[in-house]
Amino acid sequence: MEQHIRNILEGAATAPSGENCQPWHVVVKDNSLEIYNVPERDLSLYNVNQLGSMTAHGAFLESLKIAASAEGLEARVRLFPDASQPTLVALVDLVQADISADPLEKYLRIRATNRKLYDKAPVDAAQYVLLKTAADSVASVRTSFIDDQARIKDLSDAFSLNERLLFENRALHDFFYSHVRWTEEEDRRYKTGFFIKTLELRGPQQPAFKLLRRWGLARFAARLGVSKQIAKDNAKTYAASAVLAAFLVRQNLPEDFVHIGRAMQRFWLTSTSLGLAVQPMTGVLFFMQRLQAESGQAFASSQQALIRSSFARISSAFGAGGDTLAVVLRIGRAAAPSARSSRFSVDEIVSEE
Ligand SMILES: Cc1cc2nc3c(=O)[nH]c(=O)nc-3n(C[C@H](O)[C@H](O)[C@H](O)COP(=O)(O)O)c2cc1C
Repeated sequence: MEQHIRNILEGAATAPSGENCQPWHVVVKDNSLEIYNVPERDLSLYNVNQLGSMTAHGAFLESLKIAASAEGLEARVRLFPDASQPTLVALVDLVQADISADPLEKYLRIRATNRKLYDKAPVDAAQYVLLKTAADSVASVRTSFIDDQARIKDLSDAFSLNERLLFENRALHDFFYSHVRWTEEEDRRYKTGFFIKTLELRGPQQPAFKLLRRWGLARFAARLGVSKQIAKDNAKTYAASAVLAAFLVRQNLPEDFVHIGRAMQRFWLTSTSLGLAVQPMTGVLFFMQRLQAESGQAFASSQQALIRSSFARISSAFGAGGDTLAVVLRIGRAAAPSARSSRFSVDEIVSEE
């Protein structure tokens, strides 16, 4: 593989993905790249109809375009070029062009999910304008921001239903724990999932988190109110944010979520360039997608009611109307993340023809 292609794919592969599953495979044919989704990389309850993975692919493609610009190449992207091959997400032609390097390129390798408490101090007005411009960079994506502290606090509680259900729903619980990497060595071996240090557990949360990996214990603890307490702790973290940014699209087709991922990545990289920390909060949003897609066999009816009510609060706060509320990010100033997640090497995600 030529060095410039390798550089571009290294930049693209820094993109975020649900559980760091990196659901991409690239077939390189000279200066043309076929980008495939690998559905079995993410079989979580969150990844309804692969829409979570489509968001990750959007971030991958945006990162690829940015990395290509630094090589003096324009990445011309055609989404879903072959209706008979739904896993072929994009065909990318790298074309010589008179373009300058995208200034966001410097931040591809610095961007990370930061799950720490953030400073609630407001983002300054000039930065706010830059963030809004970045969020509005993809035509079909609409954004909605909330920076009122009382509203952020109220919504934090709705978002933290995700953590409550992690300890009350066996499929969610078992999937999540099977993706926790307990040591650095384990994280480097798998290169996917959640390295424990990136979860930013504080004080007594650490031993409790380890104990609750056994479903029998988690279920028993839930009866004593432990899952609700965990959600409360998470709500405190979510409330410690300066701004919440929602990304919305008209429908919920795969390409809509690719567009969401592109806008999200430009916004995230811009935040990184401004020294602002970012964490997606998507659990409840994807649970709602699942209820809509398959009337919720995955959840007990009491859980379904909780999801509908949390989602309704979030959706109305952002003025979603009839649009699909796909992703919400929380933003604020914070110390750097305690650790970074691993990635597959370029050779592991590529085949050449
Ligand atoms: C579609 C999507 C949804 C995500 N949802 C969440 C979430 O709800 N909570 C969270 O803490 N991280 C979430 N993440 C962040 C991923 O876990 C993270 O990107 C991945 O572990 C790689 O880590 P990195 O972003 O630091 O490179 C999401 C990422 C994507 C692309």
